[in-house]
Amino acid sequence: MKYFTTTSKASGRAADCVIVGVYNRGKLGAGAADIDAASKGVIRDLIKSGDISSEQGRCTVLTQVNGVKAKRVAVAGLGKSGSFDAIAFRKAVAASTRALRDTKTKQILNALTLEPVKACSAYYIARHSVEAISDVLYEFNQMKSGRKKAPMPLASIGHSIAKSGDAAQTTLGAEHGDAIANGVALAKDLGNLPSNICTPGYLARTAKKLASGNGKLTTQILSESDMKRLGMGSLLSVTAGSVEPAKFIIMKYKNAGTARPYVLVGKGVTFDSGGISLKPGASMDEMKYDMCGAASVIGTMAALTRMKLAINVNVVVPAVENMPSGTATKPGDIVKSMSGQTIEVLNTDAEGRLILCDALTYSKRFKPEAIIDVATLTGACVVALGNHRCAIYANNDPLQDDLFAAANRSEDLGWPMPLGEQYAAQLKSNFADMANIGGPGGGSVTAACFLGKYTDGMNWAHLDIAGVAWKSGAQKGATGRPVPLLSEYLLSSAGALP
Ligand code: BES
Ligand code: MN
Ligand code: ZN
Repeated sequence: MKYFTTTSKASGRAADCVIVGVYNRGKLGAGAADIDAASKGVIRDLIKSGDISSEQGRCTVLTQVNGVKAKRVAVAGLGKSGSFDAIAFRKAVAASTRALRDTKTKQILNALTLEPVKACSAYYIARHSVEAISDVLYEFNQMKSGRKKAPMPLASIGHSIAKSGDAAQTTLGAEHGDAIANGVALAKDLGNLPSNICTPGYLARTAKKLASGNGKLTTQILSESDMKRLGMGSLLSVTAGSVEPAKFIIMKYKNAGTARPYVLVGKGVTFDSGGISLKPGASMDEMKYDMCGAASVIGTMAALTRMKLAINVNVVVPAVENMPSGTATKPGDIVKSMSGQTIEVLNTDAEGRLILCDALTYSKRFKPEAIIDVATLTGACVVALGNHRCAIYANNDPLQDDLFAAANRSEDLGWPMPLGEQYAAQLKSNFADMANIGGPGGGSVTAACFLGKYTDGMNWAHLDIAGVAWKSGAQKGATGRPVPLLSEYLLSSAGALP
């Protein structure tokens, strides 16, 4: 994709399509006012006749408008003029892209970037524009046979600005948006692939491929015998019932000398049947998404290497399949983690924490500046926060605050959640150092507390993304979240935000 930034008028640019917008009560956005003036009132006429709606999520595409150089004018509804924020902006851009998706538009000039967006600088406006367009244009049809519909041939996206002083921020925002969108698309692909293709080995090969040809990125894959040597008895207990070999993936991006690395750990359960504590059949197919934590940290690595951030980042992915069989771990079995702590596996379906605890212990050797694990960890998190926000846990306030702020700026939302001894006490076991489940109440919190027992001395946070990593129903598919949140956090940590 090519990007450009322009101060030329929406009506005067010979683009394939220009996107403008109208607010409630007939108020025209800047681009729409320009188009209306150039066309002697076409926009106002169509608002009066009810052919153009100001409702958020609506868009009307006009063609061959007199006095306008662009071939098409997409008029998006912007809602109430006083409350046009980043969410409304993204909605308008998404609706416009959807309206154009089946056309042969090769070039878009987005003039919605002329609108003031609440609490949003020119940089974030351009970034949201690119991310929203890319999100709508994403398609996953690599598993369908037969002739595929040709995708929209979009090759260039422009952003209108009013003052040339905004050009640098807008151009940087588009560039970063492109890198983040690319990481999101990779995370969506990995999530959407079925578990018979996206195995632990497939995740390992994907990581290797990402590193090939990039001098600053290296990948290392540990095998089950390596993990055994390291004493990862907890991780290995999860893969015990599966014939798919487990992989432990380590990626290192080094672009800041000897600085301590940020470490991202992603849960990579390529299929979670529950194991001997078998899950019910309804919607069990969705457990192919149980590697979305892994997908998001690999996707974030793709984004930050493209942005060439001056930072050191390690990605760690414990990748396994959780299956029942004669060799599977059974409820009541006691395993020894790499940290030396023993765990009574009361429920083999609480497997995410069993692989993550060994990944956290392994990561101590990196002396992380901060370590963040990302996991589709608990159904309880979906009950608590639904599909809108991920849960943000941390063992210190500054890190939790930083992640919460990054979530807000990137519109990849989260919410701070508590840890604490009262919750941790629910993990008591009569037979081992801890149990792997904490009883009926606060399931997302007790899962986080379990992980917390493996993070001594580290600046640690945990994101439970069970509610946000994919959509169910007619829109079923991976979302690529929280790649935008993690990218924003690292952009900020690298001092790369304007
Ligand atoms: N992968 C699931 C969590 C999950 C469930 C994510 C539904 C998204 C939707 C995880 O491994 C799991 O099974 N957790 C159990 C824990 C329980 C046994 C303590 C759960 O949430 O039911
Ligand atoms: Mn499970
Ligand atoms: Zn799971």
